[in-house]
Amino acid sequence: MPKINVDGNEIDAKPGQMILQACLDAGMPLPHYCYHPGLSIPASCRICLVEVEGLPKLVPSCQTPIRDGMVVHSNSSKAIANQKQVMEYLLINHPLDCPVCDQAGECLLQDYSYQYGRSQSRFEEDKIKNPKKDVGENVMLYSDRCIMCTRCVRFTREVSGTSELFVEGRGHREEIAIFPGRPVNNKLAGNVVDLCPVGALLDKDFLFKQRVWLLKETPSISPADAGGENIWIHHNEGLIYRIKPRYNAEVNQWWISDDTRYCYKPVHETKRLRAARRAQYGTQVDTAPQHALEQATRELTNLVSTNGPGSLYAMLSPMMACEEAWLLATAIRQIDPQAVLVLGPVPTAASDEVFKNSLTGKETFRIKAEKVPNAAGVRRVMQVLGGPTATFEEFTAAKPAGKAAAGATGLAKLKGGWIVGGYLSNWVPAEMPALFRAGNYRVVQDILPSGLSDAADVLIPGAAWAEKDGSWENHAGKIQAFAAAIAPPEGAVREGDVYYKMLGRTGLYNAEVVRREMGEPFAVVKVPERDAKEAAFEFVEL
Ligand code: SF4
Ligand code: FES
Repeated sequence: MPKINVDGNEIDAKPGQMILQACLDAGMPLPHYCYHPGLSIPASCRICLVEVEGLPKLVPSCQTPIRDGMVVHSNSSKAIANQKQVMEYLLINHPLDCPVCDQAGECLLQDYSYQYGRSQSRFEEDKIKNPKKDVGENVMLYSDRCIMCTRCVRFTREVSGTSELFVEGRGHREEIAIFPGRPVNNKLAGNVVDLCPVGALLDKDFLFKQRVWLLKETPSISPADAGGENIWIHHNEGLIYRIKPRYNAEVNQWWISDDTRYCYKPVHETKRLRAARRAQYGTQVDTAPQHALEQATRELTNLVSTNGPGSLYAMLSPMMACEEAWLLATAIRQIDPQAVLVLGPVPTAASDEVFKNSLTGKETFRIKAEKVPNAAGVRRVMQVLGGPTATFEEFTAAKPAGKAAAGATGLAKLKGGWIVGGYLSNWVPAEMPALFRAGNYRVVQDILPSGLSDAADVLIPGAAWAEKDGSWENHAGKIQAFAAAIAPPEGAVREGDVYYKMLGRTGLYNAEVVRREMGEPFAVVKVPERDAKEAAFEFVEL
């Protein structure tokens, strides 16, 4: 492995690597704006210039390949003078509006001006004031803050392949612009906001909502589809404010889709179910979750005593964590050893949405057609546990018990069951009563109201994905863990806690403990919390 010496420190590098990336991988941050490991390298911002022994002038570290034994100086007087000059140049027309800028606290310009800038501006003329531009459904451009790093332009060409953004004008008149009638509305548009090293491109959804230093971050997985995109949930005081990509080389690299970015909204939906209910004289009345659970297990047990094994089913939602599906399946089989496990509806688009580099035609990103995160994981649970199982189509095609011929077996014999939702939008089809066996005893756990929750014999409000721990299996068979970012709203109960009670287990639901019991088929893929490649586009305190 080649070695280079940077400011007196010997570091390992990979053959063909650029000096800057080798330093970032080794935890030695060099200033950089235009460089991003997921994009081409224009070497245009010039803040990363370093002195290399044997070369006559400063070279861009982002674009200069390493050579074994190379000696690099990033803090020599020449390199520091360049850093100061670049900072002074970038700040000439930059407004001093950090107090009202959303990027403050995570802005490379702000951070580097502390590190490499001058304390006083020598610029006495009027600053050029470029306009704010509405460049997309979710994206706002504050042109006067732009430092023309072109990361955003390169992203729309090289990753989304949609090429909506371009550089208009030359010299001090340069501006980022969109073509008339072609806003940045592609499904990956939000990534340009993450890429922008300053507060020029901002997410309208997050605009002026929260100072970034107040946010806490929790690693999670996207619930929007079967892709398993790795994300950070940024939240404060029980509210989610935004979702950011979490680098995973094998899944989503640095990017997420806008479906993922805004999928947290149903979590704070005002209509969230918050009270347990039970049917009484043809209507529903509020009850305590504990009483609802006791009534549900009592009635389900009676059904099995009256009708024999094979009378119950559990409809496992593809929004459930593998651990929750495992616990519910085990709990229902404790009441009825022949209970049928059914995978709930799996909403699926016609095909995957594929994004390609507009210059090379190479695939860069894929949004999966399957719009739930864990159909594969629930299928795995059903397969590992064995016993009677059915698809949603088989379950709904079989005639309800009341209309079944005498001596009917299998699905037609079912008398009641446990149905879990947890989807991000109303998932219950219009023909709900027939599909979910009107007349059968139904225990429903869900987060949003529907015809089914209104018709439930027992309703237990559940927790949304961001409110609980667990793991999901993506379309490629990767089982990835996610953590609770916030607590469920008052009145809602985490599914795992309910199943713990049904199984007579003590304490609260613990996904890791359950995962250990589930064994090898459910081993999660380990992803480092922070990856060198992710750190490459974040500011690292020197
Ligand atoms: S808008 Fe942001 S990402 Fe785009 S060129 Fe300007 S500073 Fe760079
Ligand atoms: S020139 Fe190297 S990061 Fe911009």
